Amino acid sequence: MQNVQAYIDEHKQRFIDELIDILKIPSISADSAYKKDMLTTAEAVKEALQKAGCDTTEICETPGHPVVYGKKIIDKNLPTVLVYGHYDVQPPDPLDLWNSPPFEPVIKETELHPEGAIFARGACDDKGQMYMHIKALEYMTANNELPCNVKFMIEGEEEVGSEHLGWFIKNNKEKLANDVILISDTGMISKDVPSITTGLRGLAYMEVEVTGPNRDLHSGLYGGAVGNPINILSKMIASLTDENNHITIPGFYDKVEELSAEERTKMAEAPYNEEEYKKKLNINDVYGEAGYSTTERGSIRPTLDVNGIWGGYIGEGAKTVLPAKAFAKISMRLVPDQDWKKISELFKMHFESIAPEAVTVNVTAHHGGFPYVTPIDTEEYQAASKAYEDTFGKTPIPQRSGGSIPIVSLFEKELESKIILMGFGLDTDAIHSPNEHFGVWNYLKGIETIPNFYKHFTEAKK
Ligand code: BES
Ligand code: MN
Ligand code: MN
Repeated sequence: MQNVQAYIDEHKQRFIDELIDILKIPSISADSAYKKDMLTTAEAVKEALQKAGCDTTEICETPGHPVVYGKKIIDKNLPTVLVYGHYDVQPPDPLDLWNSPPFEPVIKETELHPEGAIFARGACDDKGQMYMHIKALEYMTANNELPCNVKFMIEGEEEVGSEHLGWFIKNNKEKLANDVILISDTGMISKDVPSITTGLRGLAYMEVEVTGPNRDLHSGLYGGAVGNPINILSKMIASLTDENNHITIPGFYDKVEELSAEERTKMAEAPYNEEEYKKKLNINDVYGEAGYSTTERGSIRPTLDVNGIWGGYIGEGAKTVLPAKAFAKISMRLVPDQDWKKISELFKMHFESIAPEAVTVNVTAHHGGFPYVTPIDTEEYQAASKAYEDTFGKTPIPQRSGGSIPIVSLFEKELESKIILMGFGLDTDAIHSPNEHFGVWNYLKGIETIPNFYKHFTEAKK
């Protein structure tokens, strides 16, 4: 029997090598060309669960990419932890901005990660963080330290909106029955300021198409006389926010929860340095909604962002053309108690209403998700807090995040469980960006902290 530190010390090279093997498989859920790699990754996760001590593992088919399921039930009377994570990753492009290929992991030192960081797509989001849980299970089973039952549900469609997971949960309630859901798919403030994520924003993702004339036109012969869809789309997008960067869609703020002055003061106590923030991003100033701090703009306030915009001639040199069409992908981050379906409708109605007669617009909704916040005065949160105290020597700070994990609110609704978001990534880990990485220190710290959660949670439930 070894304690967790000794076990990690002895096995850390293997822990890193195993993660690297999984990171090599390009499990890009958005691109159907990688369907086979999705299955290979699911198989690898299943095998890892089996080796780590699960007594049942299974690849569960869905109408989309499969879910990997595993469980180890030691005693029906003990509580059950359900671990959720995802094995799919974001597309790695733009490829030329990577310093090493996204699916050929390398370990390099960085300023924030002097112990080295693993560079690869999915290193932090979420293969690295998901794999911490598998290694924590390995430690607990190998050393007789597993105090309760455990189930794993690792999905392959998180990065494309978890489209079929709602269906999967509704049809497998018994199989997924649990006493708490544990997720590592978020971040923490810094390596010496641990934090637990207590909120996630919701999301409404739209696509718009603006159509003008029935063909691309000569911009000299027709320019000035016929509406240019790109000019018009730009104006329409610009009008979606006003001079205070408030969103102008009627009804958009109707359900937005306003925090009390006390809650805002409490939030402002979390360590944050705006100069550092700007320096890291190489920007001269921040930008956002009037009346709110950067931290607030990125967590408790809703936003609207254009994710992509295209149309017309973008090849080399110049072509004088008045394009027939223009497109944009626009997402809105939502906060309690905004309903993404309602917001998607409001967006569509408004966008159609502001289009000039010269064009027609077509607005479609992609995926979405509800926002989520959790209280901290629960047994579950307190168990997590103690787990961090054990390994960081500090009480973690509760922090609302700006990101989204759409399935979290559905979990709460369908499975009626509390959800604990124990993330070990850093904001600078470049998730979804070129050169994504995950600190070796963070990876091992996660493996060390997770078993403590099981222990404190089981004790609390006795
Ligand atoms: N793991 C992230 C979400 C996240 C990251 C939350 C960091 C908090 C801190 C997740 O994989 C993700 O990228 N979610 C998407 C939404 C999804 C529908 C594509 C997001 O937030 O854009
Ligand atoms: Mn993720
Ligand atoms: Mn992601």
